[in-house]
This record gives sequence, structure tokens and C-alpha cells, in this order.
Amino acid sequence: MAIKVKAIIGSTSSTSFNLKLVTFMKNRYAEQLDITPVFVNDLEMFSIDIENNPSENVMDFKNNVKDSDAVLFAVPEYNFSIPGALKNAIDWLSRGGEFTLPGKPAFIVGSSMGAFGSIRAQLHLREILSNPTLAPALLQGNEVYIGSVHEKINEAGELTDQATIDFLDAVVKNFVEFYNKNNATVHA
Ligand SMILES: Cc1cc2nc3c(=O)[nH]c(=O)nc-3n(C[C@H](O)[C@H](O)[C@H](O)COP(=O)(O)O)c2cc1C
Repeated sequence: MAIKVKAIIGSTSSTSFNLKLVTFMKNRYAEQLDITPVFVNDLEMFSIDIENNPSENVMDFKNNVKDSDAVLFAVPEYNFSIPGALKNAIDWLSRGGEFTLPGKPAFIVGSSMGAFGSIRAQLHLREILSNPTLAPALLQGNEVYIGSVHEKINEAGELTDQATIDFLDAVVKNFVEFYNKNNATVHA
């Protein structure tokens, strides 16, 4: 059975390359991964004033992440870091008395128009996720930095760069192995 993966889309753009990347992965890896994109656009700004009384959008988001076997982060780079909307969503996950990420298998992909393919954003994301209230079981290595993404995804939203596709194939295979190993340990 395919692993139920909630893919947190770090972009708020309706034409997001990272969303296109996740859509490509959803189709290509459907046998192994049952990927559903989860959006961060409509989440109000986190405040301690409302952390115990979140809106329906926030509750839906939190429940969506909770209701998964695994999480995929799809990360654009804004000014050498992750977009504010993604940080806000992660802040929501870190508060409110119920923590859904700790120990959950997760992996990261990211793309940007710049040459370095969101590497700085992903480094920040890994640091953020190391907070104990978040702390998913992150696949190490297998770092997916897709630079100049606008030249690698066509009009139809398909990834066309064969080297990138080959690398993604390997990363997904590694993630599935990691997931199965993690699950075997958890249930031992
Ligand atoms: C506010 C802002 C800051 C950006 N900063 C970076 C950056 O630091 N590095 C980079 O490679 N691209 C940067 N970009 C370009 C993004 O890589 C590009 O907009 C990309 O398409 C974002 O991903 P998305 O299409 O999934 O939203 C920036 C774009 C915006 C709007």
C-alpha cells in the first residue's frame, strides 16, 4: 500500500514551481507514495493570543498533517530562507498542546529560480525542524536542490530534466526504504 504523504507546499503562488514539482511526484510515484498537497496560504498569522483558539483553517491544516504516514516539505527560497508563510505554518504545528510532527518520517525537496535551488532555505528548514516540538524523523542526505527550476519544468508542469528525474527516483526509493525501516523499528 502506498505511504500516505502530506506535502506541505511552502509557496503561496498559484503558479508555484514547487507545487508543480509535487504534482509531478504525485503522478510519477503514485505506486509508492499517495501524495496530497497541503497549502499554507490561508493560515492566519500565528500569535500566542490565539494559539489555543485557532481558526478552522488552522485546525484543518493541523489535522491534515496529523492524518498522514509521512510529510514532504516542498520549499521555495525567499531571500535565502524559507517563505514567511511556511514558517508561520510550522509555528502553528509547534504549538497548541498537540504535536503531530515528532518522530514522523519526513523528507524535503525544494526548487528555486536561482542557481542553488533553495539550498539556503533548506538549511534553515532543517534547523527549524530540529526544535523538539517539531522534530520529524527526517531523511538525511538525499538533498534535493533544483536550481534554475523555470528551465526544468515545461508549460504542462512536467519536470523535463532527466538528471533531476533520475535523482528524484533515487531519493524516493531511499525514502521508502527509510520509512519501512522506521516503521519496523517503531512497531518492534
Ligand atoms: C520575495 C522573493 C525572494 C526570493 N529570494 C530568492 C532567493 O533568495 N534565492 C532564490 O534562488 N530565488 C529567490 N526568489 C525566486 C524564487 O526562487 C522563485 O520565485 C520561485 O519560483 C519560488 O518558488 P515557487 O514558484 O514555488 O513559489 C525569490 C522570490 C521572491 C518572490
